[in-house]
Amino acid sequence: MPAFTAAAPAKIILFGEHAVVYGEPALAVPVTTLQARAVVSAQIGGARGEILIDAPDIGLSSLASDLARDHPLRAAVAVAAGTNDLNEIPACRVLITSTIPISSGLGSSAAVSAAVIRAFSAFLGKRLADDEVSDLTFQVEKIQHGAPSGIDNNVVVHQKPVYYQKGKPLEFLSIKEPFEILIADSGIPGSTLTAVESVREKWLANQQDCEILFTRIGEISRSAREIITHGDPRDLGPLMNENQDCLRELGVSIPELDRLAKSALEAGALGAKLSGGGLGGNLIALSDDQSHRIEGALLDAGAQSVLPTTIHS
Ligand code: PMV
Repeated sequence: MPAFTAAAPAKIILFGEHAVVYGEPALAVPVTTLQARAVVSAQIGGARGEILIDAPDIGLSSLASDLARDHPLRAAVAVAAGTNDLNEIPACRVLITSTIPISSGLGSSAAVSAAVIRAFSAFLGKRLADDEVSDLTFQVEKIQHGAPSGIDNNVVVHQKPVYYQKGKPLEFLSIKEPFEILIADSGIPGSTLTAVESVREKWLANQQDCEILFTRIGEISRSAREIITHGDPRDLGPLMNENQDCLRELGVSIPELDRLAKSALEAGALGAKLSGGGLGGNLIALSDDQSHRIEGALLDAGAQSVLPTTIHS
């Protein structure tokens, strides 16, 4: 019996997280060394509606019908099938594996949903265009994260560097000169939902100050796009530091991330900032030719792991 397999990569946000929720642009790139994968196979002789979901990485093995309707894995199956009535779906097993750390700002939820949606729709005989997979992934993201901007689903589905602004056509970034980013895991889980809600509370309490920060982050993203497509990537460093200052003022950095940023800069990084929702998760540092020294400094400062990644078109 054929199995239908699909994968989607992790992602990092280079610039613009949080402000992107309020309509400013942001830049994100795929991280293809980390992947989520889904394999869907028919269960011969099984009754319709018997959809076994196996996700050994999180210790889950359950029929989809036994999961809550808003469980992201059940939701991904339902949006791919185009129905909430699982009894319409032929018996199958969905095996999900992932090397993307959870709650770390690396887009794990979007990548898992995208892989499941792609593999599941292939199992049902549907060939979806990337835009359709991205839209369906966004539906699951909304169930999980409340009011996501839409950047994660776009970058993990298209698997290309993107410049994203809500309500505008997606732009793919052409990267003039590849550059190296070190992705350092603080080891502290950060909930995107909590981080987005905390920024929202801050914004409701003080719209003027927050909007100044959002506008500044938007300007940083526009300058970064210019540098990435036409300039010298070393000039991204000061923009990363400034973006991190804005995120700190928005309240989504934490002392552990600030400590990692300081150590990376002292070891020669050209810039450093948190990436994703914050309140934990990953820090990204722009490396110069001292990448081993920066990596060592990040590990000494408490990073659980450091992943060097080359950013290219
Ligand atoms: O934590 P992540 O990887 O899901 O990234 C969240 C990015 C935010 O801008 C904070 C939220 C969003 O929906 O864009």
